[in-house]
Amino acid sequence: MEQNITEPKKRIFSGVQPSGNITLGNYLGAIKNWVSLQDDYECIFAMMDLHSITVRQTPAELRKRTMELLALYIACGIDPEKSTLFVQSHNSAHAELAWVLNCYTYMGELQRMTQFKDKSSRHADNINAGLFTYPVLMASDILLYQTELVPVGKDQMQHIEICRDVAQRFNGVYGDVFKIPEGLLVKSGAKVMSLTEPTKKMSKSDPNPKAFISMMDDFNVIAKKIKSAVTDSEGVIEYRPDDEAKAGINNLLTIMAAMTNSTPEAVAKEFEGQGYGTFKGAVADAVVEAIRPIREEYDRIIKDKAYLQDICKNGAEASHRIAQRTLKKVYKKVGFIVD
Ligand code: TYM
Repeated sequence: MEQNITEPKKRIFSGVQPSGNITLGNYLGAIKNWVSLQDDYECIFAMMDLHSITVRQTPAELRKRTMELLALYIACGIDPEKSTLFVQSHNSAHAELAWVLNCYTYMGELQRMTQFKDKSSRHADNINAGLFTYPVLMASDILLYQTELVPVGKDQMQHIEICRDVAQRFNGVYGDVFKIPEGLLVKSGAKVMSLTEPTKKMSKSDPNPKAFISMMDDFNVIAKKIKSAVTDSEGVIEYRPDDEAKAGINNLLTIMAAMTNSTPEAVAKEFEGQGYGTFKGAVADAVVEAIRPIREEYDRIIKDKAYLQDICKNGAEASHRIAQRTLKKVYKKVGFIVD
């Protein structure tokens, strides 16, 4: 990941929706990775509030969670002096570009999106057009900043693919308007699974709170959830990623590997021959000890409303400056009158 210092830094964009409790999956699949990228890249991270209203939200809750997410980013190690942090709805360019790109995206492409299929089956009473065109808004988020790399979890890779397709289509008509971005996955932790149904991804919107670890859970609750995670009756600590029967153990090995910057294979070797109880205890300790300092920082930062508001204000201005350059270019290309 080293770059020649004479070259400008490559740009990174990513974000999390403030639509629920941030999970260990969000942390290990995305935020933890962002922290390590900040020195080598020009990073922009946003709180994706526009995305979150595709599912009904309580307004006061959404506002609160958006600021909590910002505090959590910082507590996890995102440095506002190094990275740009802003609230998506504070920059109207996202919604504006999304409208244009909606006109360059096909219904058939959007119908194939697994997140749409999944969310529309879970919210059958509210299959709104925003849920359907969500990937276009996400493409706009990325393309506005001429982003090169998008560090996300595995579940977002399909959205990055469609973003690339739309960008290439647009460039094909109008010349090189957009940089074509690439997704960036972590080696371990790109898909953290549910603790109760380990063949499903860990999700903050899971109705069963035992299925996910929230970064805001009490430490004894975190330990309890890990200790009661679904495993198997074989009693053998082995990493077998293609064996569904081992999904629970594979998941715990992956979590441990992500926590300790190791690999699931190496963790399995370390715990070879030990019982599940011992192993789960070690995973619980590792997770709690990683979250503890984050929570201490969080508790401190969340109280400083003026500091957080200041970051939002500066971030919105910085993001606006970059985004307007792309938006103006796009408007000109499609034939809008631009001064
Ligand atoms: P969201 O809010 O669902 O999740 C935020 C990030 O966490 C990752 N993630 C996971 N990683 C590993 N294991 C899991 N179980 C897990 N669950 C979630 C996600 O892959 C994501 O990286 N559409 C995005 C938000 C978004 C965005 C963007 C991201 C909107 N515009 C532009 C990047 C660039 C989403 O819903 O993420």
